[in-house]
Amino acid sequence: MDLYQSLLRPILFSALKTDPEWLHSQSLSILSWLDSPQPDWVAHWMRSRLHHACTLTDSRLHQTLWGIPFANPIGLAAGFDKDGVASGIWATFGFGFAELGTITYHAQPGNPSPRLFRLPLDHAVLNRMGFNNRGAASMAETLERRWGSRRQASQSVSGSTEASPNVRREAGEGKGGREEIPFGLTQASQSDIRRALSRAVSRRGEQNSPTPQSPMYSSTHPPTYPSTHPLIPYPLGINLGKSKVTPLESAEEDYVNSFRLLKEWGNYFVVNVSSPNTPGLRSLQDKAQLEPILQALQQENTDRKPLLVKIAPDLEWDAIADVIALAQTYQLAGIIATNTTIRRDGLKTSVIERTGKLAMEEAGGISGAPVRARSTEVIRFIYKETQGQLPIIGVGGVFTAEDAWEKITAGASLVQAYTGWIYQGPMMVRQVLEGLLQKLDQTGLKSIQDAIGTEVANPQSCSENNC
Ligand SMILES: Cc1cc2nc3c(=O)[nH]c(=O)nc-3n(C[C@H](O)[C@H](O)[C@H](O)COP(=O)(O)O)c2cc1C
Repeated sequence: MDLYQSLLRPILFSALKTDPEWLHSQSLSILSWLDSPQPDWVAHWMRSRLHHACTLTDSRLHQTLWGIPFANPIGLAAGFDKDGVASGIWATFGFGFAELGTITYHAQPGNPSPRLFRLPLDHAVLNRMGFNNRGAASMAETLERRWGSRRQASQSVSGSTEASPNVRREAGEGKGGREEIPFGLTQASQSDIRRALSRAVSRRGEQNSPTPQSPMYSSTHPPTYPSTHPLIPYPLGINLGKSKVTPLESAEEDYVNSFRLLKEWGNYFVVNVSSPNTPGLRSLQDKAQLEPILQALQQENTDRKPLLVKIAPDLEWDAIADVIALAQTYQLAGIIATNTTIRRDGLKTSVIERTGKLAMEEAGGISGAPVRARSTEVIRFIYKETQGQLPIIGVGGVFTAEDAWEKITAGASLVQAYTGWIYQGPMMVRQVLEGLLQKLDQTGLKSIQDAIGTEVANPQSCSENNC
């Protein structure tokens, strides 16, 4: 058990009885300061200390998906950094990628407070935030402020000597040594990613196909390398939702408007139709309603950025099969499984202290341990239905390496965490990665990519190897 779990978490969660949303926004302010493009010496020192403590680099954890290099398979789930105010800091905590958002086209305040509750007895969180965010245009500005305009950046990447002093410092130049690189990557893997991304920028529009992960990509429209900002040294996803003021019938316009504003910033995009906290949103998972959204987005998606859909754990199997069919028709890059659940069965928490109401009666989605098994079940189903041909990002109840391994061997190529990170603290990703490497050793697999879907594809040998 580390210092966070033994000392800090009990103080923050119990002794001070801090409001979870207040704590979240204070933490984000600190992270945003740490992520400043021109950090003062304190921020720079803290960043390098954190990087040293929290990151782990190992080539066995690396994989390339959709032509994008991922240094490791553990990402930050959507909802934590909704406005992208700390978009560069997540690799400092060891994450291999981060998903920003959910962002909506219109800025919106979200639901009334209180709207975020910890359920420590269940290792869970209940939230009904309702997509509180500053809107897509504001996120685009925030990202441009953080990373600079893409054109300037591509110039500085193509002539590496032109890179700004700040970029050079972040790349570890001149300092040497692991801890000076704040992005969780070795110098070699950072420059690999820079090279891949700058190649992507220069080849924008060409049909240079990376290895298609899926026969669902038609040969007449092979995917191109996703072009993105060449200085962002790790993959960023952007999760899009529907603005509350936009009627469900106009949902596709709303998603497309956000996508248009943000498309140059994400390595991949997510259509979020699974939050329980925007009225009617989950009905957009129905085939008839989802189809026009995917069609409109893919029409706008001339750069062929990987587009994924994020689904709820509460969908029935045939509804999930419908989403899979649409994913095939519209050449989606994958499915994110899953969002929070509206189910309340099996909860140990009976009353929410803050409101005095029964947990059963409080609106919102539950995340964390209670959603773990169901989310893995959904991953397994998608993997089987698609014979492993459609990449899956698995999310829900990941706290430990065991949890991440369960999702990867059930078929997830990548895994995300939100609630687990709150409970386990800043060392979590490193602990999970260490555990995954141990799993690889135990099972004799060479890389994390070899572990994807092994429990489904080869259940016998998996059980023999304790996976
Ligand atoms: C407070 C909170 C806010 C969230 N906000 C979003 C969101 O804006 N968009 C989204 O797609 N998922 C959101 N999620 C869901 C997470 O991304 C994730 O799918 C879910 O919590 C299950 O993962 P976990 O058990 O690791 O938290 C949110 C979760 C929490 C706890």
